[in-house]
Amino acid sequence: MSIDRLRAHWGLTRMPFGKDLAPAMLADTSAHNEAVARIGWCISEAALGVITGEVGAGKTVAARAAISSLDLSRHTIIYIGNPAIGARGIYTTIISTLGGTPRFHKAALIPQAQGLLAAENDERGKHVILVLDEAHLLDTDQLEELRLLTNADMDSRSPFACLLVGQPTLRRRMKLGTFAALDQRIALRYAMPAMTRQETSNYISHHLTIAGRSDTLFSDDAVDLIHQAGRGLPRAVNNLAVQSLVAAYTSDRNIVDEASARAAVTEITTE
Ligand SMILES: Nc1ncnc2c1ncn2[C@@H]1O[C@H](COP(=O)(O)OP(=O)(O)O)[C@@H](O)[C@H]1O
Ligand SMILES: [Mg+2]
Repeated sequence: MSIDRLRAHWGLTRMPFGKDLAPAMLADTSAHNEAVARIGWCISEAALGVITGEVGAGKTVAARAAISSLDLSRHTIIYIGNPAIGARGIYTTIISTLGGTPRFHKAALIPQAQGLLAAENDERGKHVILVLDEAHLLDTDQLEELRLLTNADMDSRSPFACLLVGQPTLRRRMKLGTFAALDQRIALRYAMPAMTRQETSNYISHHLTIAGRSDTLFSDDAVDLIHQAGRGLPRAVNNLAVQSLVAAYTSDRNIVDEASARAAVTEITTE
């Protein structure tokens, strides 16, 4: 089945429930709005923040949305999307992003990174934001390095904002052992909740509206099922909604009814 025929059947101008939405097109769920607002605060305070949430809750989308609203002549963003780069990798990424050439010895990397971070702030007048996504995957060494790096004067004025974004296990990890010191410096903690039933409904309508259909396409009981099966998590809801459109199309229906949503749930949970 082709995407084009699916789109044509539903009279959509683009495929809905995609992941490439421009920041202005995002759904404003309360979790999303809260996360964006809090991340913005964390950045303006140059604080250490921790955002957690289930897989597909919208953490990365929220972090990107918050960052996209920044004036890049006054902010420098260092984004590490995958922490599987070792402790050295965190330093080399920071140093390279700030225009430096990483020194060979690890002991020399720390002062080099700290020096560049401070210079970016003091000499160029730029606020630096270090974002570590998938931060629940950070290993012990990396958390320790992060503690050293932010030790400078995170208690008072810090030369940079640091945002850890990850799955719920991150919160527990940060309370253990040597990270307890880091844990105490966390000025912002936000656990992104799932969408409520009403939000899932609005979320589905939002995606359909920007794809060209503002009328009701999903029956209430279809939304109920998608909400339950997807546990109100945006990514899961996206997948279920697309599969529901496919199921309703293949059985030649004009709306996505409960039977279509049920077929989608079966399809996705057994794949
Ligand atoms: N506010 C939103 N508006 C529209 N789509 C969203 C929104 N938040 C999340 N999504 C969708 O959900 C998917 C998962 O979000 P993402 O931020 O990658 O989750 P996480 O990082 O928590 O695993 C995104 O690819 C996007 O399609
Ligand atoms: Mg993510």
